[in-house]
Amino acid sequence: MNKPRVWLTRSIYEPAVKKLSEYAEVEIWPAENPPPPEVIVEKVEGIEGLLTMLTDPITAAVINHASRLKVISQMAVGFDNIDIEAATRQGIPVGHTPGVLTETTADFAWALLMAAARRVVEADREVHQGIWRAWGPDVLTGVDVYGATLGIIGFGRIGKALARRALGFSMRVLYNDPKRDEQAEKDLGVEYRDLDTLLQESDFISLHTYYTAELHHLINRQRFARMKDGSIFINTARGGLVDHEALLWALESKKLAAAALDVFDPEPIPGDHPLLKFPNLILTPHIASASAHTRQKMAMIAVDNLIAGLRGERLAFCANPQVYNA
Ligand code: DGY
Repeated sequence: MNKPRVWLTRSIYEPAVKKLSEYAEVEIWPAENPPPPEVIVEKVEGIEGLLTMLTDPITAAVINHASRLKVISQMAVGFDNIDIEAATRQGIPVGHTPGVLTETTADFAWALLMAAARRVVEADREVHQGIWRAWGPDVLTGVDVYGATLGIIGFGRIGKALARRALGFSMRVLYNDPKRDEQAEKDLGVEYRDLDTLLQESDFISLHTYYTAELHHLINRQRFARMKDGSIFINTARGGLVDHEALLWALESKKLAAAALDVFDPEPIPGDHPLLKFPNLILTPHIASASAHTRQKMAMIAVDNLIAGLRGERLAFCANPQVYNA
């Protein structure tokens, strides 16, 4: 019997590819950069399985072009690059990889928070440039993390993992989420706030919500204006959640003492973007889940989801479970 054909939009962990090869005829986009959109449209024709990255626009046009496609498997927890409604309409389950990247991503958000508070990147840059300023009372002074208030927007797995780290530093932790979690409030000692109150009371604010069209520019000029003077803003979720013009204002006006972004809209950030001039803005290229071990686990889950879909079985981690109700 012929094996089903699958296409991977990037090369992934070799043992995962090997496992997949037992079930499918595997083709892999060979370059380090994502395939251009027109290549994706061309490639989906005639394949049964598609393994994607968050950089691949899987639009309705792509999905409608893929007449034989049985499953899409995304190697990420987020899937805002995929038109989920179009996939569901076509009866195509979409896999993703929640859970395995929680602690790794929270570690990185915490690293950004600490680095922004204590100006680690600025300090490192100065020393690398041959500028070791003599010790002085005001040289590279930052803000204290210990005892400060952290506001977490989006209190799912990663938000809670960040809260646990913050509690270890004796921070007071506030959270906002569409769903109030009274159990977590009891277990962790965190406090629920509506969004505006959280912005007003927090010294640090970190975003951990999914991106949807309704949440586009959730953090806009008005919301930056509500933040405490001298607060620190962290985003490891999705770039589209933040109005970057408004962030520019918040940094220029010194509303924020510092900020750190691992995500941007669009990615990569254009090389001439005005935000690049701020030394107190840390920018990293969407690497919060990038530990080798976590990426290996993500690849294995993505392959397992893909194989399940090819066999007509329910995906263990499905972004559109409603596809099974049709
Ligand atoms: C995700 O999984 O959605 C992260 O943004 C990258 O790992």
